[in-house]
Amino acid sequence: MIRTLVIAGSLVVLLGLAVVAVGAWINAPGVLPPQPIAFNHRLHLERVQGLQCEYCHQFVKTQPYAGLPSKHVCYDCHDPYADDGDPEADARQDKFSVLMSYRDEIEDIPWHRVTGTRHDVFFSHRRHVTVAGLDCRACHPDMPDRTEPPTRGPITISMDACLECHEKSKASVDCVSCHR
Ligand code: HEC
Ligand code: HEC
Ligand code: HEC
Ligand code: HEC
Ligand code: HEC
Repeated sequence: MIRTLVIAGSLVVLLGLAVVAVGAWINAPGVLPPQPIAFNHRLHLERVQGLQCEYCHQFVKTQPYAGLPSKHVCYDCHDPYADDGDPEADARQDKFSVLMSYRDEIEDIPWHRVTGTRHDVFFSHRRHVTVAGLDCRACHPDMPDRTEPPTRGPITISMDACLECHEKSKASVDCVSCHR
């Protein structure tokens, strides 16, 4: 009887370990394919006085999705048609060659998303940024200081993190608010 219990007990423990191991494997962030351009957030935010996140993430105040910038946003500052006689022009420098290579293409820069919740979870930037008045850093603490795009991901925001703030700020904790 005792032996059976011990064996049964060890089986439960082993099964538990296996579940934890598989869980850790599924959640382990993988290596991301590199972004087309090694964009540097910190450099831009330091060099351009008063540059707002929504200059590039144009839908963040009005839509569920924040959006990633089109090449035309970049060309506001990095003129691809700058005077060929100017050796200092961005268009003539190596570090801008990938950005400039989209100049005459119909295709836009194929940024890929790295931050995401499960597709069955509803999340709206407008609600959090415009209605609740939250700073981006409340949920994206590292991004503004990054000197290059994240290499590991996807970056997820856990249900616990959502709930912790919702409880603190008296926002809804109803399952159906987020799971629609
Ligand atoms: C509001 C103006 C502005 C916008 C918009 C802008 N940049 Fe820049 N960018 C700068 C400034 C200023 C620098 C630093 C000075 C320089 O190297 O020319 C810079 C530097 C760079 C560099 C050189 C980085 C390095 O390591 O020296 C790259 C590459 C670059 N930007 C890409 C982009 C891309 C891609 C976009 C669009 C997503 C973009 N920039 C949008 C102003 C801007
Ligand atoms: C000059 C344009 C520009 C500005 C200003 C800018 N970003 Fe970005 N952002 C980008 C580009 C390009 C990417 C995609 C490449 C990368 O990951 O760096 C990106 C990616 C991101 C991502 C990851 C998106 C994803 O795919 O999951 C977050 C989060 C983000 N930015 C937050 C911010 C915040 C917060 C600010 C303001 C403090 C900001 N950004 C300002 C251009 C910009
Ligand atoms: C309350 C938390 C929260 C705040 C505040 C927040 N974000 Fe996000 N952000 C998220 C979540 C969650 C996702 C993943 C969204 C999804 O999967 O639908 C995300 C995704 C993104 C993405 C990539 C996907 C997309 O929506 O295009 C960008 C870019 C981004 N956020 C930028 C910003 C910027 C810029 C700000 C501030 C103006 C901001 N976020 C404020 C939680 C937040
Ligand atoms: C830093 C605080 C904070 C975090 C983190 C946060 N939220 Fe919120 N959320 C709020 C606040 C505050 C409101 C109420 C805004 C208002 O007044 O409508 C809200 C409202 C919402 C609503 C609307 C609820 C309703 O009444 O219908 C949804 C849906 C939502 N959040 C989803 C999420 C999800 C999903 C996450 C995690 C990925 C998340 N939130 C993370 C602060 C946060
Ligand atoms: C404030 C938003 C929010 C609320 C409220 C919320 N959830 Fe979630 N839930 C999430 C997010 C975000 C995820 C995905 C987390 C991730 O991607 O790691 C999630 C994931 C889940 C999962 C999948 C778990 C997993 O590990 O994959 C289940 C099950 C779940 N929620 C059930 C519930 C139930 C039941 C309630 C009500 C008691 C609830 N949720 C309320 C945001 C919420």
